[in-house]
Amino acid sequence: DWNSGNVIAEQVEKIRAQVGGGKVICGLSGGVDSAVAAALVHKAVGDQLVCVFVDHGLLRAGEREQVEQDYVAATGVRLVTIDAAEQFLGALAGVTDPEQKRKIIGREFIRTFETAQAELVAESAADGDPIAFLVQGTLYPDVVESGGGTGTANIKSHHNVGGLPEDLQFELVEPLRTLFKDEVRAIGRELGLPEVIVGRQPFPGPGLGIRIVGEVTFDRLELLRHADAIARAELTAAGLDGEIWQCPVVLLADVRSVGVQGDGRSYGHPIVLRPVSSEDAMTADWTRLPYDTLAKISTRITNEVAGVNRVVLDVTSKPPGTIEWE
Ligand code: XMP
Repeated sequence: DWNSGNVIAEQVEKIRAQVGGGKVICGLSGGVDSAVAAALVHKAVGDQLVCVFVDHGLLRAGEREQVEQDYVAATGVRLVTIDAAEQFLGALAGVTDPEQKRKIIGREFIRTFETAQAELVAESAADGDPIAFLVQGTLYPDVVESGGGTGTANIKSHHNVGGLPEDLQFELVEPLRTLFKDEVRAIGRELGLPEVIVGRQPFPGPGLGIRIVGEVTFDRLELLRHADAIARAELTAAGLDGEIWQCPVVLLADVRSVGVQGDGRSYGHPIVLRPVSSEDAMTADWTRLPYDTLAKISTRITNEVAGVNRVVLDVTSKPPGTIEWE
């Protein structure tokens, strides 16, 4: 029968056998899969591992700190954070089309990660011992979906980092390949990872960039981060985290409505709450949250977040609506 302690011991052995004395790199996303994969590799080979976290400026409040402080304190991994917010916002300037945003964020992400990776490889090569392994948090369902292939990843060196071969070859380390999501969470808990990471609800890679309907700007991100933090805090305080799959909080930056706030008329933006219940995100229903919780969230957001004068609830199932708005 399944036991997280046994799986950890087994994987640690396997990782040691695969990696030997080699150097390893791992990208952290803030999500549970990469966090658990890196923690396993660190348990196996310690500081032969270096982790890279890209802060693209589209993170929720506290997410960077959760990785830089809580996760590092819990695991002891070596972490390099890349500050790329300005680069991402520059690339997103003037863009409102959702697919376009996704493409740009994906492209910038790969660019940023590969540049950081190439620099670390160059540093390690200067020591005569180049990084040769790349950790990926591939889960069993991903393996099945993609037909079971494994092996190596090619990183093209088009980033003007001197002294690198044309094509870097990494051997993949995939310690979660036989596991399902709930098993990964169990292992993460057994390894002592912070609950904010292990228990995290799904959050899209493109982050808050696809939760602003309209152009993504720094001020709008700050506003949305604030509203999102309030909604999350109130849902948690009400004990509703187990009931919802996730609750996107969306800023309708291209919409304004008239309100009355303080002594006068306001003309602000609506915030949409999108609480959903789901098994696998393929289909979903809107969660029937208690009115009192909704009222609390609405009152707090309109009182505390400047520029927002209305909070609306999305009562659409999936299909026809997707979970995210973009
Ligand atoms: P939709 O909006 O398609 O979302 O109903 C289904 C689930 O996938 C998440 N999602 C993403 N996750 N990168 C991700 O890693 C993405 O680009 C992305 N888009 C949507 C969404 O949050 C939901 O859990």
